[in-house]
Amino acid sequence: MKLWGGRFTKETDQLVNDFNASISFDKRFYKQDIKGSIAHVTMLAKQNIITNEDKDAIISGLNSILNDIDNGTLVIDEDNEDIHSFVEATLTERIGEPGKKLHTGRSRNDQVALDMKLYTRDEITEIDNCLNCLMKSIMTIMENNTETYMPGFTHLQKAQPITLAHHMGAYFEMFKRDRQRMSDIYNRLNYCPLGSGALAGTTYPLDREYTARLLGFAGPTLNSMDSVADRDYLIELLSALSTVMMHLSRFSEEIILWNSNEYKFVEIDDAYSTGSSIMPQKKNPDIAELVRGKTGRVYGALMSLLTTMKGIPLAYNKDMQEDKELSFDAIDTAKGCITLFAGMIDTIKFNNAVMENSSKHGFTNATDAADYLVNHGVAFRDAHGIVGQLVLFCIDKGIALDDMTLDEYKAISPVFEEDIYDAISIKTCVDKRVTIGAPGKEAMDKVIAINKKWLNENPVIGK
Ligand code: ARG
Repeated sequence: MKLWGGRFTKETDQLVNDFNASISFDKRFYKQDIKGSIAHVTMLAKQNIITNEDKDAIISGLNSILNDIDNGTLVIDEDNEDIHSFVEATLTERIGEPGKKLHTGRSRNDQVALDMKLYTRDEITEIDNCLNCLMKSIMTIMENNTETYMPGFTHLQKAQPITLAHHMGAYFEMFKRDRQRMSDIYNRLNYCPLGSGALAGTTYPLDREYTARLLGFAGPTLNSMDSVADRDYLIELLSALSTVMMHLSRFSEEIILWNSNEYKFVEIDDAYSTGSSIMPQKKNPDIAELVRGKTGRVYGALMSLLTTMKGIPLAYNKDMQEDKELSFDAIDTAKGCITLFAGMIDTIKFNNAVMENSSKHGFTNATDAADYLVNHGVAFRDAHGIVGQLVLFCIDKGIALDDMTLDEYKAISPVFEEDIYDAISIKTCVDKRVTIGAPGKEAMDKVIAINKKWLNENPVIGK
């Protein structure tokens, strides 16, 4: 059934119907649509715009529709233009005349703006929950690995020794900021557009504060044109999801490298790996690769929506219907990626001995050898030069700094004494780095405590 047949004398072309309809994708927010309608009629009755009897009939009709869709006895009929039309038509079929009063003082423009905000709020809660689970997985790895040494890299070259806890801690901070962004977006979008009508409010004495409160919003939106034309919160969400994906993609890239034969820092669990149809020896990191790949898809959604919105004059225009498939796809993709990624790192095996050995070979302690000289009165620039000579000597002999004899050290600089070995041991190199944020155990333990407290103080948004 069409909500707008009256003014027309001809049937719509079938292709136009198909092109125009959104029910194939907006049916996914039937719950939010019904919830919004229940709040709307509750307010209409409170304001004496409809009678209590009509309100009760409408609410019980809407609840029966909700139940029946939930349990599969009512199938959403895609001959309708959108979910709003389907719910209203079904309501009138079920309860008769009162059903026709549901849309009093409302337009599909404020209705869809409301539905999409309600849906986005629910999804932010789910995304935040996924991120929270991922952060807990990372936290477990951090707690267990404050003394698991590994090389830290710059330019993908071994730089200075760190720990696995410290490396994981970097991702923890990224996902913490991602969760903070989710909460910012939630709070900023949390104003109710219902009651804005098509664009200019309505002539009915609606109580917009009341519906906003019923639906858990901080208050009503303050400009009816902006209310029906605003999709900023979706752009913000797609941007934040793009950032989440960028973080996951970098993490994936590292897992792929670490899982390679050349690194062997980790072994991805069989349950999270796939094989090759031709090469029997292969165990591929497909999940990490797919997460990295799907990042492009989420960036694409952000660019699409920004572009869709850029030329739309106020207020509502049908272009804005394009917000849905893009957002749904990006939200589904991001949720799937976060969840799978968490499962992958929950089951991954870290080869601690390989990582530690790698940190010993590659001169990650060269800076510490220079610091040793500085502590013995050598100027840093001179120390840098001396250690450069040590490194050359080691490269030539194919050994690590730790393997040089004291005589060999002294031949390059007489300042070196027996305690150089302790000064450049990987454990010492890491443990001396105790300023907050550094990998030393003392600093890392403090950061772990701060972040565990953060997790406790920041439960999932909207729960
Ligand atoms: N399906 C539409 C959308 O997603 C609903 C709003 C329709 N409003 C209108 N004036 N045609 O934007």
